Order: sequence, then C-alpha cells, then structure tokens
Amino acid sequence: MYRSASSFRIGLFLFLLHGVAQLAAQQIPHLDRSEASTQLIVEGKPFLILGGELGNSSAGTAAQADEILPRLARLHINTVLMPVAWEQVEPAESKFDFTILDHWIEQARIEHLHLVLLWFGSWKNAVSSYAPEWVKTNPKRFARAITPDGNPVEILSPLAIENLNADSRAFQALMRHVKEFDNQQQTVLMVQVENEVGMLGSGSDHSAEAERLLNATVPDSLLQHLLAHKDRLSPELSRNWNEKGRVWREAFGVAAPEVFMAWNYARYIGAVAAAGKKEYPLPMFVNAQLPAPFERAGEYPSGGPHPYFLEIYRAAAPALDFYSPDIYWPNFEYWIERYNLSGNAVFVPEARLEPSPFNAFYAYGEARAFGFSPFAVDSIADPANPAADKSALAQSYWALEQLQDILPQAQREGKTRGLVLHVSSPRPTQTVSLGGYLFTATLTRSWPERKILQDDGAMIVVQTGKNEFVIGGSALTISVSKDVDAGYGIAGIVSVEEGSRSGGRWKTSQRLNGDQSNQGRNVSLPAREFKLLRVKLYTNSRD
Ligand code: DGJ
Repeated sequence: MYRSASSFRIGLFLFLLHGVAQLAAQQIPHLDRSEASTQLIVEGKPFLILGGELGNSSAGTAAQADEILPRLARLHINTVLMPVAWEQVEPAESKFDFTILDHWIEQARIEHLHLVLLWFGSWKNAVSSYAPEWVKTNPKRFARAITPDGNPVEILSPLAIENLNADSRAFQALMRHVKEFDNQQQTVLMVQVENEVGMLGSGSDHSAEAERLLNATVPDSLLQHLLAHKDRLSPELSRNWNEKGRVWREAFGVAAPEVFMAWNYARYIGAVAAAGKKEYPLPMFVNAQLPAPFERAGEYPSGGPHPYFLEIYRAAAPALDFYSPDIYWPNFEYWIERYNLSGNAVFVPEARLEPSPFNAFYAYGEARAFGFSPFAVDSIADPANPAADKSALAQSYWALEQLQDILPQAQREGKTRGLVLHVSSPRPTQTVSLGGYLFTATLTRSWPERKILQDDGAMIVVQTGKNEFVIGGSALTISVSKDVDAGYGIAGIVSVEEGSRSGGRWKTSQRLNGDQSNQGRNVSLPAREFKLLRVKLYTNSRD
C-alpha cells in the first residue's frame, strides 16, 4: 500500500522504468537509421563498435579464445570480429557442432566483449576454401565456377542451387543456435555473410548455366529497381547502363559480365542471409575487397559488393542491411566515403592495422561510422609484449571509448568532425569547420628544429557546448579561427584542458598553457600519445 501520493508516483515511476529496461533487453541488436548516420542499438542504446578482427586462423580452436580474448580486452577493444568456418560447424552433412563457437561466446562474456561473426561459408576471399570436405569432394553435386577454357576452379558457382541450399541450411542452423545460446545476453551483435566474394580470373563464371543466363534478358525486377533509384547509381554503373537495353550486354555494355556476377552473388548471399534471419534477424552485412588502381574485374573479385554496383546488391538482396569496405589502400578517406552514401550504414570490418589508430578518428568523426575494426588485432596483442597495452591502437581506443556516450548523438546532430594526416598526404594542412569555428591542423613539429615528429596524426572534434569542444587524437597542431560563414570577427582560445571523461563528467588532469599551447596560439595533440582535450573558445564579432 502506498502511504502518500508522492510515494505512489515514485512507485509508478520505478515500475515504468523497470518496464522500459525490460523492453530494451528484449530487443535484439538492430540498426536505427537517420539521414545523418546509422546507429547500432544494443540493449536499447546506441553502441559504438571499437572493433578488432582476428587473423584467419585465430578462432579455429576453443583454447585460442582463452589466450586471445583477455589480451584484446586490455586494448580497449569492445567487439571482436571472429570467423566461423562452415567446415568447422558442419563437418558432416547435417551434423552440426557449435562447441568451439559457444566457448568463444562464453569467454567473450567473461571479458565483457561483444562479437561479430564472420560466416566463412561458400566463399572467403573469392575462393571456397572454408567449405566442408563433403562439399569440396563432391563437385558433381556442388558445382564449381568454370574458366573460359572449360576448367572448374575452387570457387563454388553462385548459380548452382544445390550450393545455395547447402550454405543456407548451414547458416540457418548457425543462426538458430546463436539465438538459443545468446538471445538473452546478446554477446553476438551482427553477422557478416561470406567474405570478400567475387570471381577471380576471367571475372565471370563460364558454366553452361551462366553462359545461358548472360545471353538472356535482364530480370525485370532489376531493371525496375534501377529505374526507381536512378538518383543513387554510382558513376561507374550509370555510365555503362543503357535504359533501353533488355539483354545483359545491351543493358550494361562492357560492364555486363561484372554486373551479371554482382546480381548472382547478391541473390545467393541475400538468400543465405534471409534463411538466417528467419531464425534470428541480427543485422547482416557483406564486405568488399576494393580494387587497386588500374586493376580489372577478375584481378579483384568481380561481382563483389564494390561501391560501383551496390544498387545491384540492393535490388537482389533486401535481407542485407548494409555494405562495408575492407580498406587496405592508403586513400582511406576516399574509400570510406564511397560507402557513406544513400543511407548506407558506415562500418569498416577490416583495415590495415598500422595506420588504423589514426584512420579510426576519421571514421567515427567524419564518416560517422558506428564501428571500425583493424584486421589481425591479435597479432599486436602479443603475450610476450606487455607494451601492446600501450600500443597506438590501445591508446586511440582509450580516447574514443570515453566519447561513447556523446558521439552517437553528436554524429546525428552534425556536431562531430574528424581528419587524418600523413607525411605523404597530398595536403599537409587540413581544415574542418564546426560550430562556427575553423580547426586547421598540421602534423606536429619539434622546436626549434621544425622536424615532423610523427608520420601520422589525427583528431576527432566533438562539439559539447556553444563554444566548447572535446578534441581527441595525436600528433597535430591545431589553430582556430572564425568560420566566415558564421560572421566576421576573431576567434581565440579561452582554455585547453587535458583530461578524461567518465560517467558523462569531465575530469581535468592539467591545464595546458605557455609552451604547451604555443603561448595560447594553438591546441596541441602531442606525438607518440593519444590525448583527450577539452577546449573552450571565444569569438568577438568585428562590429
Ligand atoms: C582480406 C580478408 O577479408 C581477410 O580475411 C584477410 O585475408 C586479409 N584480406 C589479408 O590478410
């Protein structure tokens, strides 16, 4: 019995709060899209994936989890991307064994880590090497792609229905199991379906079925989709597309074989994803091996989810939630932005380890990614190397994890910017505009020699008040001026504090003045460290 109206209200409030918490826990991880950015919602809240992908042979035994996961947790990684091999979970047809995966999930829970599963099913880097023995040794039943001179290759044909059915059954069993094992705790957040698919060699499957279909008409559903989404076709697709064409070569010209392969891979993978989603509809995505300059289709996997042909994938595979680039090339910003279009959720499942601590600041700050993940992170966290805990990746994630509570909202409101600079950057100075100020950054130099102290530097800027910003990063000297778009006048620095954030509060460890702020002229992010700074600015209008 409530003794007063106010205790009744408190009781009601607590009851409702409990209800909301329960509802949040019942929701499975899902995407929340807005025009500005897409967020991954976990237990009712936006979750920023500070990820790391394992090497290809790092998750093949249960014991590897015990050794690897504690080390990764110490690097401030919050989510591990791990392969799940078809050959491992279905060693004999219809006989499933998830014991290794279960152990990884249990160990991840102990380390407070989440997991993203990478389904190495029909294809891993184009080739079908993770398919089980009973698939590999029965090419009559599980048809291979065929070269122009008639030879089968170790690539399962994406046009063979038996291949699709076997992969779908296995993936469906996996998702059923993940649901049973993990629905409550939600350690597993998302699933990548296959890995860097596409046809190598001639760039096209030359099986009889493929040849027959390539010479036939383009499915009407694809043509209708392209007509309805003309405004978002990539330049590479629209310059090859002839709206009046009905057969593949007429409709897509020289790009026809690649578009045809993209359509067939996408239909296959979309069907595998849909089979899994019937059991447990976690967010599902595919990743692309990106072309090197001047590479032709077939040198890179032809028909993969390249930015050129995402619209083909969207038409063929509605069960896929988004498309991701694996960025190993130096022009990181170019490639991530090619996936930051038409409402695609930005998530980088693989990136070259070495500049990753810097590129991460661009990904979260500028491309508004909800996740980023360098490849082979277990290789830096070497047990014999205690310095790994202080590695650049660990330090950069240390800085970024402190922004977790404010970053998703800031991304939505356009209150975040980011940049990355390298000695080799085409422009040694870069400027971003935020909140009426211009932040102009160059790589930090020594004094008095003026030598560049570190080859890479990066920052994220988050606006936290009208004239207040939190800046995280390393090795940049930043000057601040007034953005003329916000009116004429001068801008200056009120204060720069180095510190940390926890529970939504800022804690200052030191105020930076004198030599540490170039006598009040700059905001400085030191080399060989990643720092978090709270910066207050002022602006006086000219009149
Ligand atoms: C991209 C692949 O997706 C990864 O699995 C791995 O093979 C890396 N390339 C290169 O090591």
